[in-house]
Amino acid sequence: MVDLSTNLAGLTFHNPLMSASGTFGHGVEMTGMVPFESLGAWVSKTVTWDPRPGNPLPRIHETEAGFLNSIGLENRGIEHYIEHVLPALGQARAQQPGTRVVTNLGGHRSEEFARLAERLDDQDCIDAFELNLSCPNVDGGKLPYSTDPARAEEVLAGVRRVTNKPLFAKISPNVTRVDEIARGCEAGGAHAITAGNTLLGMGVDWRKCTPRLATGVGGYSGIAIKPVSLRCAYQVVSAVSIPVIGCGGIQCAEDVMEYLVVGCQAVQVGTVSFSDPSALGRMGREIAELLHSEGVDTLSDCIGTLGMPQVEPWRKS
Ligand SMILES: Cc1cc2nc3c(=O)[nH]c(=O)nc-3n(C[C@H](O)[C@H](O)[C@H](O)COP(=O)(O)O)c2cc1C
Repeated sequence: MVDLSTNLAGLTFHNPLMSASGTFGHGVEMTGMVPFESLGAWVSKTVTWDPRPGNPLPRIHETEAGFLNSIGLENRGIEHYIEHVLPALGQARAQQPGTRVVTNLGGHRSEEFARLAERLDDQDCIDAFELNLSCPNVDGGKLPYSTDPARAEEVLAGVRRVTNKPLFAKISPNVTRVDEIARGCEAGGAHAITAGNTLLGMGVDWRKCTPRLATGVGGYSGIAIKPVSLRCAYQVVSAVSIPVIGCGGIQCAEDVMEYLVVGCQAVQVGTVSFSDPSALGRMGREIAELLHSEGVDTLSDCIGTLGMPQVEPWRKS
């Protein structure tokens, strides 16, 4: 038996696997394919205050290696989430108390995040909030709190004032300094950083002279982004003292271990579920088998064990 449990933000997770927001509906829709108890946490799709129709079609394009999307946070709004989604999640959570529920929140202004968190604060089945500070498909990814550490701090501080639930700040890789944004979130009261969201990308049908996505530019995810996302996760781990949840391009147990070794306490898995919907459900077992074959019996022993080679300076003094 390998102990896969991990701790972050004052919560214990029976394994380090979480669904990445927006790639698994709100969670309960997928439990026929991925048993609820097979994940450490289910992360909802982003919930906004008002219903949002999302961006115009086409808004998904499959590339040679991964997905372009410009969904634009389509969702039915918070009241629908409370009335129609949370009861089923609450029931699943009550039957499998070892698995956590994380609600991902989105808004245009910092007050919207606080308003959402306040409205959901008394929902016992929600273990933590994840603040989506990083959607590339709303205002072209130029929302001020995605790119400015002080504004990110302001969002976190605003939410901190209305809830005691743990807060994960999901940040964007589409900035020059991920470490500065992460530090802003930590200063505002984040309990963990999710690093991170999709990369800005684009596809073109040159024969028709049209972009593949109606919005032109969208978010790029899946296998090809792993090296960039892993680099971001590593830089964030080095910059903050709160836990980091790695996200981007994970396909299999081997990929999960790379994120853990650079120092992430947990991971989120998204795009692979579109091509292999049961992948996430198998991954816990695959990690256990992998660690067993390496003679490791406690997953947390692997976290943050990356040894950076000491590079010899080219000029000898
Ligand atoms: C179709 C699609 C929809 C997404 N919707 C959301 C969303 O609603 N909120 C969010 O925070 N991230 C959203 N994301 C980003 C993912 O949660 C994840 O951060 C990103 O896809 C990188 O992980 P991956 O390479 O494993 O997919 C979405 C990604 C995709 C592909």
